[in-house]
Amino acid sequence: MRIAGRPYRSIWLDAATGQLQIIDQTLLPHRFEVRAISDVAAAAEAIRTMRIRGAPLIGAMAAHGLALALAEDPSDSNLERASEELSATRPTAVNLRWSIDRVVAVAAALPPPNRAAGALAEAIAICDEDVATCEAIGDQGLAILRELSDKRDPKEPLQILTHCNAGWLATVDWGTALAPVYKAHDAGLAVHVWVDETRPRNQGASLTAFELREHGVPHTVVVDNAGGHLMQRGRVDVVLVGSDRTTAAGDVCNKIGTYLKALAARDNEVPFYVALPISSIDWTIEDGLREIPIEERDGAEVREISGKTSAGRVETVSLFPAESPVENPAFDVTPSEYVTGLVTERGCFEATPEGLQGIREAVRRPPQTP
Ligand code: MRU
Repeated sequence: MRIAGRPYRSIWLDAATGQLQIIDQTLLPHRFEVRAISDVAAAAEAIRTMRIRGAPLIGAMAAHGLALALAEDPSDSNLERASEELSATRPTAVNLRWSIDRVVAVAAALPPPNRAAGALAEAIAICDEDVATCEAIGDQGLAILRELSDKRDPKEPLQILTHCNAGWLATVDWGTALAPVYKAHDAGLAVHVWVDETRPRNQGASLTAFELREHGVPHTVVVDNAGGHLMQRGRVDVVLVGSDRTTAAGDVCNKIGTYLKALAARDNEVPFYVALPISSIDWTIEDGLREIPIEERDGAEVREISGKTSAGRVETVSLFPAESPVENPAFDVTPSEYVTGLVTERGCFEATPEGLQGIREAVRRPPQTP
């Protein structure tokens, strides 16, 4: 990713000081600010308050959080306490558990004096792997976008609709659903992205639009309710979203509102693809509706909205009186039957138990380029 022409990752170690740094996503797009994370409490706070968010990036931060905890106290009890603190931050994205388990397995096998270094090396490996994985998802998704593009008027851009932010800011770099978009744009394939604003936190309007602007990808922000209308009028060629947790039967849990896009896509015969790293598959469950815990967030996210005033100040205002109760589920589940394909770093698979079995088998083989 490049921001104002400078290369960045969403999380990194400062080359001079070794300090962990992130882009504070709660301030985007109005302010770009880098924030240092110096202990496990700050790592947990950054995940909980969504200074960083997106399934793979949450996992990367948790891995680094454990390394920071062990640098302070490498005992078994502290490893357990820090794992619990980080696991409790957000319940839905499975990458959090996956990366904590990875770091704990490495650290627990080492004598306490070596644990912080071992955990840090594993956290760095998780971040580097995420970059490679997301780039590979980009290559696999590009092949699908090319195919779809070949079916339409070559003078017209391929129309892609996305929900929430599944770009570089949701991962260490590249993104999941946006990686194929960046690959397509860089390869000279004309694309245009419909960006759902993604209430209540507006990750689409604030983050996806910011990324696409920085990369020079043509895009248009629409309200969340516009997708069905655009699809009915033939103005969407493909829906491409990310996933926080995908079950072993192919159900997909992603940002609230994704399911409605899948319904509209089905009704209008628009392909609905989900791009995900294999690490976000929860192999222990099949029925997403019954088994995936859905995070319920603070009602203030629904009741209030922030924006920049004409005087240049960022302010938060109330949309309606506090007496009206609110509910704020952060994710929903799209049943597998609505998913055209799961685009992973190992290829595109059907969202069926057999397709998922294909992913398991692909993981055992050396990677292949599309
Ligand atoms: O609540 P968020 O902003 O963490 O939700 C993010 C999403 O829903 C993304 O689509 C998902 O994490 C997949 S992105 C790589």
